[in-house]
Amino acid sequence: MKKYVSELLLIPGPTPVPTEVALAAAQNMMSHRSGPFKKLMLDLTAKLQKLLQTQNDVVILSSSGTGGMEAAVASCFSQGDKVLVAAIGNFGKRWIKLAKVYGLATEVLEYDYGQAVDPSAVKALLAKDTEKKIKGVFFQMNETSTAVLNDVEELAKVIRAHGALVIVDAISGFMASELKVDDWGLDVVITGSQKAYMLPPGLAIVAVSEKAKKAIETSDLPKFYLSLQAALKQGAEGQTPYTPAVSLIYQLAAAVDLLTDEGLESILARHERLTKAVRSALRSLGLKLLNENDRTASRAVTAVYPPPGLSADEIRKRMKNDFGITLANGQDELKGKIFRIGHLGYVDPKDVLAAIACLEIILSQLGAPGIQWGKGVQAVQDVLARK
Ligand SMILES: Cc1ncc(COP(=O)(O)O)c(C=O)c1O
Repeated sequence: MKKYVSELLLIPGPTPVPTEVALAAAQNMMSHRSGPFKKLMLDLTAKLQKLLQTQNDVVILSSSGTGGMEAAVASCFSQGDKVLVAAIGNFGKRWIKLAKVYGLATEVLEYDYGQAVDPSAVKALLAKDTEKKIKGVFFQMNETSTAVLNDVEELAKVIRAHGALVIVDAISGFMASELKVDDWGLDVVITGSQKAYMLPPGLAIVAVSEKAKKAIETSDLPKFYLSLQAALKQGAEGQTPYTPAVSLIYQLAAAVDLLTDEGLESILARHERLTKAVRSALRSLGLKLLNENDRTASRAVTAVYPPPGLSADEIRKRMKNDFGITLANGQDELKGKIFRIGHLGYVDPKDVLAAIACLEIILSQLGAPGIQWGKGVQAVQDVLARK
């Protein structure tokens, strides 16, 4: 007999979609070359600029986040350019692969899993580049695979002092934690629809500075669909170079209205609160976090080791089968070694309470030592009860 359980998706993207946003996709198509669509795009872009705290141009690409990353690499650099990638996990490795695919001379600063980039190391490395050969520095705001938040402001400061472009993958970090595109001087910032925007996957929203636009004008790397130059030119008119994912644009407009009504402060506060609740609960259950440093803790996802002797995959499997709760696997070398609890986007305090309560049951059934009923739940309640 099939057992029906309601589903709770606690992964760091795709994240749950609010009903208002889901229903926005049901609207009929309109011509993407029509006046009403242009108005929709221009209004939407203005609201996105507010959320991104920027006056820079913002373009919407019909691609997943990686398309935005590739657009940044292909559009901002030229043959023979040197770049630096500061990588702290799986998505940092993606920057390295992309830079190499486009033939860029790629210097890499790599960290152990669970660590953040050290801005002073970037500073020291850039200081050696007296001839200013390094044209851009790539890093993640939030490394989703290891649940680590980088200090974007500090990194941008040292990169700007050198003069290279500051290129930030903020796909999972944006709106989970503070990101001040203009105040911090970020040149290209890539965000993705299936994260804190609370949309299905399929859009990359990219903010581009005037300095980046200058590099884009002279870039000679091959590109077509992912040309930021084309997207910027058309975007100024509320247009896209090719047929956009119209339904996702409707959904983005609906989601951005919800987010704007809520306000950035509240969006950031709820991510902070859920992060604290999850970390506190896991610790109170005796579990070891991949990143024990609260300052660099991702506000989008928490990565945790299973208790010694227990399988992370078995825990995830039982959470899904018994309770309908989907948790994320580790990635890369961390596959099967950790599990990750997403608290990004449309996730509620009660979702976290339920997840921790169910996790207690699964851990206890699997024989984890010292599980006391309600200890994790109480830790969540302690955080949530604080105003
Ligand atoms: C930090 C980060 N960068 C890049 C990506 C890749 O984005 P996408 O899967 O939308 O191409 C993700 C997706 O999870 C991510 O979390």
